[in-house]
Amino acid sequence: MSTPPAPPPDPVLRARGLARTFRLRTGTVTAVRGVDLTVARGSVTGLLGPNGAGKTTTLRMLATLLRPTGGTAEVAGHDLLRDPHAVRARIGHVSQSGGLDPSCTGREELVTQARLHRLSRAEARDRAEAVAADLGLTGLLDRPAGTLSGGQRRRLEVALGLVNRPEVLFLDEPTTGLDPGSRADLWDLVRRIRAGLGTTVLLCTHYLDEADALADRVVIIDGGTVVAEGSPTDLKRRATGDPSAPLQDAFLALTGRAPAADPLALP
Ligand SMILES: Nc1ncnc2c1ncn2[C@@H]1O[C@H](COP(=O)(O)OP(=O)(O)O)[C@@H](O)[C@H]1O
Ligand SMILES: [Mg+2]
Repeated sequence: MSTPPAPPPDPVLRARGLARTFRLRTGTVTAVRGVDLTVARGSVTGLLGPNGAGKTTTLRMLATLLRPTGGTAEVAGHDLLRDPHAVRARIGHVSQSGGLDPSCTGREELVTQARLHRLSRAEARDRAEAVAADLGLTGLLDRPAGTLSGGQRRRLEVALGLVNRPEVLFLDEPTTGLDPGSRADLWDLVRRIRAGLGTTVLLCTHYLDEADALADRVVIIDGGTVVAEGSPTDLKRRATGDPSAPLQDAFLALTGRAPAADPLALP
């Protein structure tokens, strides 16, 4: 492989040797084994890899939800280990599984989330309205989450991640389980979040077409470690010699594995 590309300018996130081992009664599982990652401010960066690669564990560590067992990171200007509260105030995280209470309305969820970020009652109400307007959710705010479609729920989950106006938004498999129309809407939403709000987006996906469509920069992770990174065009050129090749061919050349290419494939 040719020389690695230069690091992107103005990083908003920098991880070095980030690692996580889980201890189970039956032994230990090394989910992430030393990830180095640099994310440019204002970019959409895709963490791409097959199921079990360590994407969710990496994202949860960067979002302060899980303590690393090795390495560290600086996120939005603060050290992940020394100052997790400062990091948490400046990021949003949308988990793979979601977490909406089906009996709560979107407004209730958004106001509660804003209050957790220490906004006053009045500020929280205003913020809920503003974020809902940004994301096209205004007409749905007073419906219980359980009555929303899968795509609408996902949009509300993204709104919850944006309620504190974060510098970095972490999205874990944002379109898994969505029908093709809702998936296209979500892609559009990610583009608007970056362009309209200037938020940096780090998204995990096992869909090559998703990484190809959305990400300026793709980091391929496999077996808990970074195996390649670059723009989609870069990766295609380096792996196959053809910048217009499908990202699937580059992925196969770089990992020796076939990823899930079908958006309707089971996770
Ligand atoms: N809490 C946990 N306890 C034990 N093993 C875990 C835990 N979370 C993740 N793992 C393991 O770590 C590996 C990476 O998982 P994960 O980060 O969820 O991958 P991905 O998101 O890329 O599918 C898998 O082998 C998974 O089984
Ligand atoms: Mg995952």
